[in-house]
Amino acid sequence: MTAAKAPAKSAKPANPKSSLIQFSAKVVEPVKQTTQCLVVGSYEGIKLAPAASAVNVADAHQLDALLKREGFQGKAGQSLLLLNPQGIAAERLLVLGFGATKDGHVNADNYRRAVQKIADALRATTCTEITIALADISVAEQDAQWQARQVAESLSLLDYRADKLKSKPAEISLQLKKVIFGAAKTQVADATKGLQLGQAIAKGVNLARELGDLPGNICTPTYLASEAKRLATKQAKLSVNILEEKHMKELGMGSLLSVAAGSDQPAKLIVLEYKGGNKKQAPIALVGKGITFDTGGISLKPGAAMDEMKYDMCGAASVLGTFQTLIDLQLPINVVGIIAASENMPNGNATKPGDIVTSMSGQTIEILNTDAEGRLVLCDALTYTERFKPEAVVDIATLTGACVIALGNHATGLFSNNDELAKTLLKAGEEAGDRAWQMPLWDDYQKQLDSNFADIANIGGREAGSVTAACFLSRFAKKFAWAHLDIAGTAWRSGGAKGATGRPVTMLVQYLLNQV
Ligand code: BES
Ligand code: MN
Ligand code: ZN
Repeated sequence: MTAAKAPAKSAKPANPKSSLIQFSAKVVEPVKQTTQCLVVGSYEGIKLAPAASAVNVADAHQLDALLKREGFQGKAGQSLLLLNPQGIAAERLLVLGFGATKDGHVNADNYRRAVQKIADALRATTCTEITIALADISVAEQDAQWQARQVAESLSLLDYRADKLKSKPAEISLQLKKVIFGAAKTQVADATKGLQLGQAIAKGVNLARELGDLPGNICTPTYLASEAKRLATKQAKLSVNILEEKHMKELGMGSLLSVAAGSDQPAKLIVLEYKGGNKKQAPIALVGKGITFDTGGISLKPGAAMDEMKYDMCGAASVLGTFQTLIDLQLPINVVGIIAASENMPNGNATKPGDIVTSMSGQTIEILNTDAEGRLVLCDALTYTERFKPEAVVDIATLTGACVIALGNHATGLFSNNDELAKTLLKAGEEAGDRAWQMPLWDDYQKQLDSNFADIANIGGREAGSVTAACFLSRFAKKFAWAHLDIAGTAWRSGGAKGATGRPVTMLVQYLLNQV
């Protein structure tokens, strides 16, 4: 007998509407520009870039003296906010450090680091409008479009606020509404494109952050399904189809359904199809783990920090975020999104350690630990993906604590059965500043998954936990070029700054952009 599966009782996000920051590119004159804050740059050793240098001349070299007094050295990520600067029209002056130059250029990482400081430095101000005079900073191998994109990507993160469920939104002073990006006349068109691109990417990142941060009692599998449908409304290129448990049963998805068995919330298989490219072009498939809460099931997790298992749907959120950006940019490619959404709960119908289930592929699985549920939902989603005859499949999952131990919060773990695809994704991550690091998927590890009673066990012991998880998935990815991104360490931050990061939306969008 199965219990009736009820919808969640939940609060609705209180104030979901907020207007986005407006960006524009134009020629600016740093000294004469009336603005609430002028942002200028300096290289290491207080070598002022031209705009900063002009300010320094206009205020009788006080800027130079002030920077020295305050110990500003121009290192990448250093910043100094000056209130009421003299000799210029701006109300405030923000000087950013870009670090050392090589052949007159700074590197891309340092540029990003510097630009990310703008929001931090202004957080305690009441600025609603700023002017960025950084077009004179030269970045190795990158143009004005790229620079503008970085600025828009970084500042648009302010468009998402995590306090929507507070009855009174926290009082914050920074309410940025307008950003002017200074550019040389010949660069205005390129910079404008970059600003649009950056904003579209940030919109996707922010959607992923918002869904990640939502609690498990609101963001259920049903909620994820309705978000997918919302994305598809009035979108000619995007269609969404939701598969219910009944349908999954008919398809033989015994593995996915074994995870949903212990929950009152119905599982959903969410299928998004974006058709922007040529009809004959094989699609790229993005497959997301959407465990909206992972208690561990009967192999119950310990209590400490268990709340963070609301983030176990961040793979799914990154798929939805990427589709958000796709429809904003109307990219001319074909992309399929598959989200395996379920809770992992321990009620009386729950799957027990030792239970054996049959996956859609026909392979039988001995479930030795119900907390290794991500691979159980993903394997059936991967088999389902075969019907789209994809050119490449990328799954995204908060799959293993072991990946956090291996790589920490900096790199996403990447595993692939195809070196070309692995290289392409690694490069996209580098370009986008959302990096992955490749881990081995050698046959040597496969035997850790041997079972006495079924074709495969769902855990492979303590050693190389993120590798054996990937090995498990590889058994269901034999029919296509496939890569697996373990985002357990990168999808959210813990501690005082707890919150979803929106990773790896930027990497995925860059990967798709590079296919166009
Ligand atoms: N969602 C977790 C992985 C996870 C844990 C991500 C902590 C981020 C932080 C996953 O479902 C899980 O529980 N994995 C187990 C696998 C183990 C039972 C083989 C793990 O990593 O402990
Ligand atoms: Mn788990
Ligand atoms: Zn999980």
